[in-house]
Amino acid sequence: MSMRRGIITGTGSYLPEKVLTNDDLAKIVDTSDEWIRTRTGIRQRHVAAEGETTSDLATRAARAALEAAGRAPADIDALLVATTTPDFTFPATACVVQDKLGMPAGAMAFDLQAVCSGFIYGLSVADALIRSGQASRVLLIGAETLTRLLDWDDRSTCVLFGDGAGAVVLEAGEGEGTTADRGVLHTVAHAEGRHRVLLFTDGGPSSTGTVGRLRMQGREVFRHAVNRIAEAMEEVMNAAGVSAADIDLFVPHQANVRILDATARKLGIAPEKVMLTIADQGNTSAASIPLALDAAVRQGRAKAGDLLLLEAMGGGFTWGASLLRL
Ligand SMILES: CC(C)(COP(=O)(O)OP(=O)(O)OC[C@H]1O[C@@H](n2cnc3c(N)ncnc32)[C@H](O)[C@@H]1OP(=O)(O)O)[C@@H](O)C(=O)NCCC(=O)NCCS
Repeated sequence: MSMRRGIITGTGSYLPEKVLTNDDLAKIVDTSDEWIRTRTGIRQRHVAAEGETTSDLATRAARAALEAAGRAPADIDALLVATTTPDFTFPATACVVQDKLGMPAGAMAFDLQAVCSGFIYGLSVADALIRSGQASRVLLIGAETLTRLLDWDDRSTCVLFGDGAGAVVLEAGEGEGTTADRGVLHTVAHAEGRHRVLLFTDGGPSSTGTVGRLRMQGREVFRHAVNRIAEAMEEVMNAAGVSAADIDLFVPHQANVRILDATARKLGIAPEKVMLTIADQGNTSAASIPLALDAAVRQGRAKAGDLLLLEAMGGGFTWGASLLRL
């Protein structure tokens, strides 16, 4: 049975120039390169320059993705930015990016807030817009300046995060309705708000009138993450009728290399099938999956026709997974 699907036709990404190494951090808080590397797998992270905002990073990633897809900004009919660090409370970062890209009036543009799961949620929405016929070409961006939410006196959180942006162009295509089709095959997205106190900011427009700072109970988040990520990956593979052995590349949210190792072990995934960018980028929240995906494409690790499995877990809690064929 013929089926309309969202197919990724281009990827792009951008990392700010400035790099903060673990040794740099050891000058700010009581930590060490050794502790950060062994507990998280992170060696360095990128930090946006003063005055460089989420929309700046998003616009650069978007331009690269449009170029890879061979599309102009005017070809896009829906622009979604997954972010927890918008330039402003309003307007949406997506509207700022629309303007910076020089897109003509018309396309819908909005932000999507699911913290580190933002890109998976975004894929779910983008693909649904395409399947329903409401959009034919979607620009989906994950962009963050998460370092702006950090408490630089809290060594248990400030060593984990970084800034960056990744983008994809999704275009409508017809498939047979099987897993051999190109495009997004299946996405699952979930939330459990009662755990919101384990990972949150202690401020916001309607509560304190401030931005707030990131707070986290790391050990608890770790425990939930391994279980929820594995569940979501199994759910999406079962729904599509594929097994871990069928997957060509896993492109996970890059939160902690130990979470990824534990998940891969649980599901029997070979380590060489896991795309890792965390060592050089840290956790860039909603940007981490499209950053890793773009790196995989540009390094030739993900090619047209490959079956990819994406997953994420973040504040909320939110989590999800997506199976797609490039
Ligand atoms: C944050 C995380 C790396 C901490 O590792 P952990 O093994 O759980 O460590 P703990 O929090 O139990 O802390 C162990 C010790 O290290 C210390 N510590 C914390 N951060 C440190 C740092 N940057 N440098 C040195 N020591 C540190 C703690 O103070 C604690 O010391 P104590 O035993 O004297 O009290 C880990 O819990 C984690 O990755 N959690 C998931 C976080 C995540 O991915 N969040 C985002 C989800 S999208």
